[in-house]
Amino acid sequence: MTLIEWREENRQFHLANGHLSYILAVHENGALGPLHVGAPLATGRSYRHLIPRPFGGFSNRLGDPVALECPTPGSGDYRVPGLVVEQPDGSTVLELAYRGHRIVAGKPPIPGLPATYAETDDEAETLEIDLADERSDLVVSLSYTIFRDVAAIARSARIRNDGSQPLRLTTAMSLVLDLPDADWDVVHLAGAWAREHHVRSRRLEHGRQSISSNRGTSSAAHNPFLALRRTSTTEDHGEAIGVALVYSGNFLAEVEVEPYGTARLRVGIDPETFAWILEPGAQFATPEAVVAWTGDGLGSMSDAFHRLFRERLARGVWRDRPRPVLVNNWEGTYFDFDEDRLVAIATVARDLGIELFVLDDGWFGKRDDDTTSLGDWFVDRRKLPGGIDGLARRITELGLRFGLWIEPEMVSERSELFSAHPDWAIGIPGRPGTEGRQQRVLDMGRPEVVDHLERVLAELLGSGPITYVKWDMNRWITEPWSAGLPPDRQGEFFHRYVLGVYELYRRLTTTFPDVLFESCASGGERFDAGMLAFAPQAWTSDDTDAVERLKIQWGTSMAYPLSSMGAHVSAVPNHQVGRITPLATRAAVAFFGVFGYELDTTALSEAERSGIRDQIAFYRDHRDVLQRGRFVRLRGPFDGDGNTTAWMCVSDDRRQAVIGCYRVLNRPAPGPDRIRLRGLDPRREYRVSVWPVADDAVGRANTIVRSGDDLEAIGLLIDVGRHEAAGQGDFWSRVFVLEAV
Ligand code: GLA
Repeated sequence: MTLIEWREENRQFHLANGHLSYILAVHENGALGPLHVGAPLATGRSYRHLIPRPFGGFSNRLGDPVALECPTPGSGDYRVPGLVVEQPDGSTVLELAYRGHRIVAGKPPIPGLPATYAETDDEAETLEIDLADERSDLVVSLSYTIFRDVAAIARSARIRNDGSQPLRLTTAMSLVLDLPDADWDVVHLAGAWAREHHVRSRRLEHGRQSISSNRGTSSAAHNPFLALRRTSTTEDHGEAIGVALVYSGNFLAEVEVEPYGTARLRVGIDPETFAWILEPGAQFATPEAVVAWTGDGLGSMSDAFHRLFRERLARGVWRDRPRPVLVNNWEGTYFDFDEDRLVAIATVARDLGIELFVLDDGWFGKRDDDTTSLGDWFVDRRKLPGGIDGLARRITELGLRFGLWIEPEMVSERSELFSAHPDWAIGIPGRPGTEGRQQRVLDMGRPEVVDHLERVLAELLGSGPITYVKWDMNRWITEPWSAGLPPDRQGEFFHRYVLGVYELYRRLTTTFPDVLFESCASGGERFDAGMLAFAPQAWTSDDTDAVERLKIQWGTSMAYPLSSMGAHVSAVPNHQVGRITPLATRAAVAFFGVFGYELDTTALSEAERSGIRDQIAFYRDHRDVLQRGRFVRLRGPFDGDGNTTAWMCVSDDRRQAVIGCYRVLNRPAPGPDRIRLRGLDPRREYRVSVWPVADDAVGRANTIVRSGDDLEAIGLLIDVGRHEAAGQGDFWSRVFVLEAV
């Protein structure tokens, strides 16, 4: 099946897979521009009539909103540029003209950067278009991959200096999308530590609107994802375009609405903290941006991202394996533990059905609090006399897997590493460093730092039966400057940092292919597609409160699959907000993620233990559909008063579904309420069961066999009599299971 059509006679490319069309044309002046990005259109036809006539080129009619794929500044296009290159004379004007193209089967990798991939050549096709500026000998290769079965296109660029003098890149976007109108709402994920990925939505307005990070990580302030949706678009109807950047550092996602009402979307490394010197013969690769288009609502946009990120971004043996139910000791013990206490927690965990024990912060150096020892990745024998190996073996003998927390990118000033290599910590000599969490960030852009960490961590991971690693990153970068770079290259600092992190991840995941990596940055401060290429799951948030998690997980699901979202049941009162929610509700929320516990199992009452046994049995029974099924958002915490949330997972064959329903506050005298389901087979009959309680009013009303069309048109019956409702209390939840009969 051909996915990319080139029509020589009208110099037009058409990328089409039945889900979407992306049509590009070479203009008369050689510039490359999009003709259409969106609904699938027939191939074998010219769409050049979409070029505004008469086409005079943008230098004849200044400021005309000609649609371009790689806009540059200074020659009549006054919108935000996609590429800015300072040339030897200091000018930045380029005339990028089509030089040639290649269409290749599959998807070539991007050197040094994570990216989506095709497992076989027939899964995708890639178009690479070379644009050249004759005067500066600059060649820009734009890469477009269209996937056969996903409503998405991956776009990146390589910029090459074929000349004899250095060039300086100051803007190198991954994607520019020129859209013919601005009649969109922009949807993005904003937040902070412990309240990551809250959905924000607002109308596009004239001028520029942007989200970005300059903190060194993609950050929780804004996630490198943005969607445009028509104002009438809902979860299951209407047009939406989503863009996610496969990158973990400073980014910019910006939309500009220009005077004629067209919109330009650009996404890539944030130009504000970036400059790159391109020596003769050198090339620069931008990160990849993934664009998803749908005519069927935000839900189907998310489907495209989920599918691609779960199946063709994540890699390694854990991509497809069921992820283990874990217990992490952080909230259970913080820094206060020894070997026996950990083994005691693991022993109870094993009896509950937990599969993996994770030892968090505090096991290394002399780390009894957060003032010391980061960088000293050797065991603290005061706490663990048998070493990591001794502990790991005891845990493994219980029948559990063993996992370990590390924070490779950091160093404490009170550490052996800092004493030996003070210049490895980021900072500007002669200036005070801004303090943050009593720790400093290592200069990951320096190869000797990456080599050192690889050596030390490889030794650690090889020292015992460690099958899981939680890789944390808990500090934003300040005083950005590298002792390893000359003054004129300091603009490369942030990107080189990210490249160094990727390099270390690449080496460790290659040496330890069986280890499951979970990324973390104080929770969700670096939850992005770049990380998912190395670590298939991430700790979604340090906030484990069930009510807060509804918002966080709902927002995260806009772009990221459930198999990537670490979600744990923790103790109450909750450590982040002090809220007391029922144990079952905490689990009912965490089921919709990679499930685990974050508590001291030895402190549980007998009733709690039995509740947890039941939770784990439930999760293991439905793990496949929860981790790999299609996720459907039904009613959201950001809609209306946000009091009710409901979502579901449906298996690919639509024979099984699990639905979570949550009510934050109980209200007196409720009216009728029904949760309509989606994604079922309307002609099938489903046996409905209710967890954890089946013999109350909701249980009795729903525990019957119903048809898919009934469940979609009418829905689950959440309304109960007023008398029963009074007894439900706050933070109520139910999980419904549908099995085809
Ligand atoms: C971060 C993580 C937590 C925990 C602590 C340990 O905050 O997000 O899960 O690992 O660090 O210091």
